[in-house]
Amino acid sequence: MPTLSDLAVRHTALDDADLEWMHSLVSDWQLLADLSFADLILWIPLKDGSGWIAVAQMRPTTGPTVYHDDVVGTTIARGERELIDTAWDERRICREGDPDWSTGVPVREETIPVRRADPAGGALGGCASGGPVPGGLASGGSASVGAANGAASVGPANGAAPGQRYLGVIQRSTNLSSARTPSRLELTYLQSASDLAQMVAEGRFPFSGAEPILVRSPRVGDGLLRLDRAGRVTYASPNALSAYRRLGLTADLVGAELGRTTATLCYADEPINENLMIVASGREPRETEVEAGGTVVQLRAIPLVVGGGRIGALVLIRDVTELRRRERELMTKDATIREIHHRVKNNLQTVAALLRLQARRLQVPEGREALEEAVRRVGSIAIVHETLSHTPEEQVDFDDIADRVIAMASEVSAPEAQVVPRRVGTFGVLKSEIATPLAMVLTELLQNAVQHGLAQRPGRLQVIVSREADRLDVIVSDDGAGLPEGFDLESSTSLGLQIVRTLVVGELSGRLAIEPRQGGGTEVTLAIPLPGT
Ligand SMILES: Nc1ncnc2c1ncn2[C@@H]1O[C@H](COP(=O)(O)OP(=O)(O)OP(=O)(O)O)[C@@H](O)[C@H]1O
Ligand SMILES: [Mg+2]
Repeated sequence: MPTLSDLAVRHTALDDADLEWMHSLVSDWQLLADLSFADLILWIPLKDGSGWIAVAQMRPTTGPTVYHDDVVGTTIARGERELIDTAWDERRICREGDPDWSTGVPVREETIPVRRADPAGGALGGCASGGPVPGGLASGGSASVGAANGAASVGPANGAAPGQRYLGVIQRSTNLSSARTPSRLELTYLQSASDLAQMVAEGRFPFSGAEPILVRSPRVGDGLLRLDRAGRVTYASPNALSAYRRLGLTADLVGAELGRTTATLCYADEPINENLMIVASGREPRETEVEAGGTVVQLRAIPLVVGGGRIGALVLIRDVTELRRRERELMTKDATIREIHHRVKNNLQTVAALLRLQARRLQVPEGREALEEAVRRVGSIAIVHETLSHTPEEQVDFDDIADRVIAMASEVSAPEAQVVPRRVGTFGVLKSEIATPLAMVLTELLQNAVQHGLAQRPGRLQVIVSREADRLDVIVSDDGAGLPEGFDLESSTSLGLQIVRTLVVGELSGRLAIEPRQGGGTEVTLAIPLPGT
């Protein structure tokens, strides 16, 4: 499926700036479709001027569609759809008198020329806030209050501006089959749609320079307010009213000044929130979020600027209480888990330090050695918890951990042996249930190789990993002295290998073999299943 860019580059003469305008139009035109209860198709003239290509399409979420098939990529010749040609040639919005029945349902067609405003040109007319003021919305904060004030004065009419450029035509098709006597809501929607269409034709919508909206903005169906020039509510959709009721409003919303009303509800004891005042006045295309009584509401202002003057604004309203509550919950849960790992690590380090202290006091060499080993065992678990305390998930990049455990082993090797262990292959990301026992197993095996195999002589020590989709194979191999005569894993009663066996077989449901290595030394093989990773 070709994208808007693909089609435009291949078939039309649009340049990069045009394309950007188209992208920002298309990213925001759901609003126009929803307010119009209509399908939108964006037609761009073909390079050779012979006709049109459809580069984007939008269906309304508020009403039935006209086009059940996708039309993107379709071309039509000039003369085929008179309404499109006329809107383009005469640079004006065209509306057909009678419904078109060619698709089987009555459809009202309308076409809107798409004009791109040049930020440097005069297409902005006298309105500083509604048009593409660089840094207007982009500033996001309260920096451009000055520009907003400028909007209050009506500028010179939108005459022949130097930055004038037309890019294509929007075909707006309304399925009339379900049309009823329009309610107040529908009339407000349609009036607002017609204002927005006018803004598209004047190069005032989309708001260029606006930050791309990453989180889903409120949609028409979420809740809609219409404001007059003074920021007073002239219409409130039932959803918008409900949102304000939840914020604590008991009085009427229609007739109220939105900025002051919202501030009273949400910031009663606080200094005036400038960003809210700008959004709620409808002077700038901006978003904000307000909270009161446990309800969180997102507001998005769309200034309506038609014929060079600001006539009011639409404010889309969405109750995001549940969404934000879930986000907060997730965030605190993650943070708590990380904090727990951090504390476990600290505690383990304290335990290791205590053991080390005790070891130093001991006069019996075996006792001291035993305690020093315990210190290392505790240390390898601490490493896993430390790694987990840095990641939001309960899984870790085990290569990191393995390398630290390996480095620890080389530290305990006798100075004359100078073992430099190395890792071949990668473990990748592992769940913590696997990472913790595996880190301990590696510690034991590496320690054995260094202590028993390579104690008297230098040699090679390798950890060879191969990871399959559902299993992990690990070989710890040294070319040292080899296993003692008559060694048997099953009957070995020493602690190290018992730990290894318990963890590999019991905890990890894996297999373990310890055998003489070909060419001398010892090879320990682990096969660990990775369920559901
Ligand atoms: N890589 C190896 N090379 C040679 N011998 C080994 C190797 N690994 C294990 N062994 C032999 O297996 C025996 C059992 O090892 P195990 O780790 O269970 O005990 P340990 O290392 O002696 O004591 P600890 O309980 O402190 O680990 C060792 O004493 C050693 O003789
Ligand atoms: Mg051992």
